[in-house]
Amino acid sequence: MSDSEETGLEARLAEQEAFEPPAEFVEQANVSDPSIYEEFENDWPGCWERAADLVDWETDYDEVLVDDDEPFYEWFVGGELNASYNCLDRHLDSRGDERAIRWEGEPGDTREFTYAELHREVNEFAAALRELGVEEDDVVTMYMPMIPELPIAMLACARIGAPHSVVFAGFSADALATRMNAADSQFLVTCDGYYRRGDALDHLSKADDGLAGVDHGTTTVVVDRLGDGHDLGDDHFDYDDLVADHAGAEVDPVTRDAEDMLFLMYTSGTTGEPKGVKHSTGGYLSYVSWTSHAVLDVKPDDTYWCAADIGWITGHSYIVYGPLALGTTTVMYEGTPDHPDNDRLWELVDGYDVTQLYTAPTAIRAFMKWGEEYPDRHDLSSLRLLGTVGEPINPKAWKWYYRHIGDESCPVVDTWWQTETGGMMITTLPGIGTMKPGSAGPPLPGVDARVVDADGEEVAPGEAGYLTVDRPWPGMLRTLYKNDERFIEEYWDAYSGSDEWVYFPEDGAKIDDDGYITVLGRVDDVINVSGHRLGTMEIESAVVDVEGVAEAAAVGGDHKMKGEAVYTYVILEDGYEEGEEMEAAIIGGVEEAIGPIARPEEVVFTPELPKTRSGKIMRRLLEDIANDDELGNTSTLRNPDVVDDIEAKVTGD
Ligand code: PRX
Repeated sequence: MSDSEETGLEARLAEQEAFEPPAEFVEQANVSDPSIYEEFENDWPGCWERAADLVDWETDYDEVLVDDDEPFYEWFVGGELNASYNCLDRHLDSRGDERAIRWEGEPGDTREFTYAELHREVNEFAAALRELGVEEDDVVTMYMPMIPELPIAMLACARIGAPHSVVFAGFSADALATRMNAADSQFLVTCDGYYRRGDALDHLSKADDGLAGVDHGTTTVVVDRLGDGHDLGDDHFDYDDLVADHAGAEVDPVTRDAEDMLFLMYTSGTTGEPKGVKHSTGGYLSYVSWTSHAVLDVKPDDTYWCAADIGWITGHSYIVYGPLALGTTTVMYEGTPDHPDNDRLWELVDGYDVTQLYTAPTAIRAFMKWGEEYPDRHDLSSLRLLGTVGEPINPKAWKWYYRHIGDESCPVVDTWWQTETGGMMITTLPGIGTMKPGSAGPPLPGVDARVVDADGEEVAPGEAGYLTVDRPWPGMLRTLYKNDERFIEEYWDAYSGSDEWVYFPEDGAKIDDDGYITVLGRVDDVINVSGHRLGTMEIESAVVDVEGVAEAAAVGGDHKMKGEAVYTYVILEDGYEEGEEMEAAIIGGVEEAIGPIARPEEVVFTPELPKTRSGKIMRRLLEDIANDDELGNTSTLRNPDVVDDIEAKVTGD
């Protein structure tokens, strides 16, 4: 079986199997009455009050949805609240001594915070941020790995009404600078380093390199993660000192309008410039609370673990805001699943008695490759529910997860959503829906997703088409930061009619007779590597910046483990030589500009790129070559011969 069959295509070809939710799960599920779909339909948008009811409002909202200025929808209008209050203060009476966060470092060191302890530290750091000059609506950037100070800093910002912008720690210094400049962010919270596969990585030098590229003055706070006397820099503030200086401080949660920005999250798009996705306070918090409740079945007494990184939207919504708003215990782990051995995750599930595990298909494919001997070493019987997110999951990996991790007694929720949607949109409800491996499921109650053709007409079951979302939802992005025009162009222009606004997530999909949606992947120039979005333009501009490169194209090709991998095709300037040295320079250039996650799987040198007569690079053909697929139509090419040349290079013929 070829790689492509094992990952994406298999989902489309295989006879679809179905699994019912385990009876034991259904009995205790937060949501188990199938009439919820109809109830939401009959009372839309009023149905979303159910989500808002999971949140404490300082001032009740007057209207659920205001759509006077589409697509700039407003949710829970007139309502006032604070996200930090909702994640901390309101739990103090009933759950002050219960654990909010259980953290484990890669070397096995542990830290725990009860709700009372987390509340105290968030207050102290909020007071410190204020003293450093952070005011309401200032954007505070965080460039941190998976350490407790990251959610603490996020909640401290939320407390004082300062939106945060978290930059994934694996991103490069350049990526940090780009995001701080775009958000005009004058504050950075970072750390000295962290552990990766046994090594202590230096993170501060990378942060400092990034700061050198910021075009305005900045104030930086550094967390001492490594505790090795690492020089934190004279011009930086030490996190521990700041917190100690504000010991016992209390900061009243700032009253925020429902529509006020809670955070910004940059994500890759089709142009080289990352998009600053803006999320609101009231709609977002309600939506992630509701989906944590209904889909992840989170209850206060759970020990819930989302094994994503807080540097991505999954971690924002389902490590920090959703679980903490519901007052549960959320687990955080610093390291990778394969260190010191391939059973690291199972050791943690066993040791902490984890009740729900939410992870990515890439990780599941790796577990499957390593073999069931690793989970078999541990008692995983505490698990009640399994989830996946970030990319299509092939039925084989789904079934392995269901069988070897869930012991056929946990429902698996395959959740489709995006940075822009804030929370889950398409998935089965675990206490209600039949599960079909490879298919995410129906849209959630109240969500109106369809699969349409290029003209916006719904396609027949089984046919491939484009996914659209035809009604707004509370967790939706409000706009792209300071760029309303791009917001409309990117998400609304493609399918909106004269009197209706339709959201286009830029994914391909198909739907079956039961209304189950199988998401087939991106239809724009975005590559999904291990569940992380990378823009081809970003990669291409990094390659072209390497000395000696004249032109480059980057495409996504199927990859057995990562879902997709980056393939680059490069034309060199005269006088530069193809070979290992140049390849290393190109790979290094991409890592430096974006981060190791964007590392090209293959660099193919070519004298020309396939182009249409109008000069556009035919990426489809390059994708076909990367995937070893039959080539698509080459007749519109200006230079059809080049395709054979490139193919020969890749296959070595
Ligand atoms: O292509 C879809 C894919 O991931 C994209 C969103 O990426 P990002 O904004 O980084 O958010 C990832 C975590 C929510 C989508 O446009 N995707 C996400 N979940 C699934 C998926 N593809 C198939 N099945 C999924 N369950």
